[in-house]
Amino acid sequence: MPIKEDKLINPVSIEEDTVVDNALRPRRLEEYIGQKAALKQLDISIKAAVQRREPIDHLLLLGPPGLGKTTLARIVATEMNANITISSGPILDKGRDIAVLLSNLENNDVLFIDEIHRISASTEEILYPAMEEYKIDILLGEGVAARPLRLDVSPFSLIGATTRSGLLTSPLHDRFGITLRLDFYEVEDLIKIVSRSASLLKIDIDEQGAREIAKRARGTPRIANRILRRVRDYAQVHGHENGHGHGQGNASINLENAASALDLLGIDVNGLDLMDRKLLDVLISKFDGGPVGLGNLATALDESKETLEDVIEPYLIRLGLIKRTQRGRVATDLARNILALDV
Ligand SMILES: Nc1ncnc2c1ncn2[C@@H]1O[C@H](COP(=O)(O)OP(=O)(O)OP(=O)(O)O)[C@@H](O)[C@H]1O
Ligand SMILES: [Mg+2]
Repeated sequence: MPIKEDKLINPVSIEEDTVVDNALRPRRLEEYIGQKAALKQLDISIKAAVQRREPIDHLLLLGPPGLGKTTLARIVATEMNANITISSGPILDKGRDIAVLLSNLENNDVLFIDEIHRISASTEEILYPAMEEYKIDILLGEGVAARPLRLDVSPFSLIGATTRSGLLTSPLHDRFGITLRLDFYEVEDLIKIVSRSASLLKIDIDEQGAREIAKRARGTPRIANRILRRVRDYAQVHGHENGHGHGQGNASINLENAASALDLLGIDVNGLDLMDRKLLDVLISKFDGGPVGLGNLATALDESKETLEDVIEPYLIRLGLIKRTQRGRVATDLARNILALDV
């Protein structure tokens, strides 16, 4: 899901994130901030499974990128005291690949498949009986001599993550016992996340600085963490130029330098970046506010339909700036007002 611009608030993980993502990842359920409803359900399922000494029900995690699906999958494994094997839809091509993964699992292990909507049909075929009765069917030998063989696998939990539940086939969807939908985070939760990350990264930040970053982070922890690092750079350089900080990187983040840094990065007070505003602008001025089909909008913006649907639109919908209707995308009055203020 490539995004063309160097999009600071692109919630999709980029290379510099991976190291920091891992360092900042909460390890236990009690460290995980926000998503109260989902966590409550998960907590009960985990406790029940541990008591019964069984794997937790297969779990499907839904939601836009950067909200903490991978983090939760790892937490489940930790809480279950189990190993986690991580794979992803696009690399699970041949049925044989998934059969190998499955047969290597130990009792109660977690198999995490990211982007599960992208697994191949043959992978899906192997998964069905594995999920239902911990069996896999393989073919021994080739051609006319080939014989089907049914093998046992250890009781395990499959955790699937996807940004696009609509693309999951219904037989696969139905085999998940628990479905959790992660939603954009409230500002109060993001403040906690920013403060926690700052303390782990030894960045000095006050409450107002953390609030400013949280407000403009598109409801997404990954973006909040990324902005935090950029604002730290800004505060450090700026502090240094003003004769503070002595170049030691100890400049602290406050409302003023956070706001200036965010302005400089092109993220406005609503957390909208250039691409967001461009979408609204094109929708309103070129298509008269819609309705316009996804394909036409994507062409006008020179972006892929997937990026629009998975990455850009969800937050604009959440803010009530656009709507998806039967006939296409529509800009709301709120969007017109915001753009009018902008110019
Ligand atoms: N609830 C949370 N509390 C604290 N930090 C969080 C939380 N959720 C996510 N994060 C932070 O955000 C980063 C991104 O989360 P994660 O990689 O789990 O997202 P994801 O939903 O799997 O994204 P993708 O769809 O791109 O795979 C994590 O490294 C972690 O630092
Ligand atoms: Mg992930």
